[in-house]
Amino acid sequence: MKKNIVVGNWKMNLKKIDAINLVNNVLSLELLDDVEVVFAPSSIYLSKVNEICSHYSSVNTASQDISFNNNGAYTGEVSAEMVRSLGVKYTIIGHSERRDYFNETNKELKKKVDLAILNDLKVIFCCGESQKQRESGEYFHYIKSQISESLFHLDNKHFSKIVIAYEPIWAIGTGKTASPDQVEEVHKYIRGIIKDRYNESLAINCSILYGGSCNPSNSRELFSQKNIDGGLIGGASLNPQSFVDIINSF
Ligand code: PGA
Repeated sequence: MKKNIVVGNWKMNLKKIDAINLVNNVLSLELLDDVEVVFAPSSIYLSKVNEICSHYSSVNTASQDISFNNNGAYTGEVSAEMVRSLGVKYTIIGHSERRDYFNETNKELKKKVDLAILNDLKVIFCCGESQKQRESGEYFHYIKSQISESLFHLDNKHFSKIVIAYEPIWAIGTGKTASPDQVEEVHKYIRGIIKDRYNESLAINCSILYGGSCNPSNSRELFSQKNIDGGLIGGASLNPQSFVDIINSF
């Protein structure tokens, strides 16, 4: 059965005390049982946040990124092996901010995916088109190349460790949410290409999340679509009540 998952991507925000308060505040509120909640703090808080989450079932953590090398002389980098050694379950890979500001290519992301899998981390793999690609109609083709070039070399067993996050770049941090119909159309398409490459059961069981200005006033309608299995939440995940309202809107 595919899972409903809501991920809070804190990006490069919060001082340590604020990070601890945020996770404790969220966990003090009533959360729906059947939604998996994932916190993605800065890697320097990951150990602490993971320790707090370990007391709760269905609450996990994610690294916001991993290095494309497993260890060695790469000053400042954090490897999949290090992240996994904390007991962390997920890593985000291929966020558009990484692709844009750090020039991460599909080929490099494929390497990161392999390292994550090798180290037993589940992957939240981000994809999504720019405003220009949306307007020119080439977004299906673009999303397909992002997914196929970084993920479709995986065998069935390893593909089952993948969660996809569709995040149209034009909707991230802009307050301009994609409409439920627009998101559903893309999610359905993504499920279709997974079915074509693998099989129906893997396609049905893959959680496909939406990200991009998702907030408590649009999450209910988004999550009620057949192929939207949750969200990757940026800005709204920094406010405990907003994040919980999103989680509880299934
Ligand atoms: P946003 O960010 O919710 O602030 O638009 C989403 C994301 O980048 O993951």
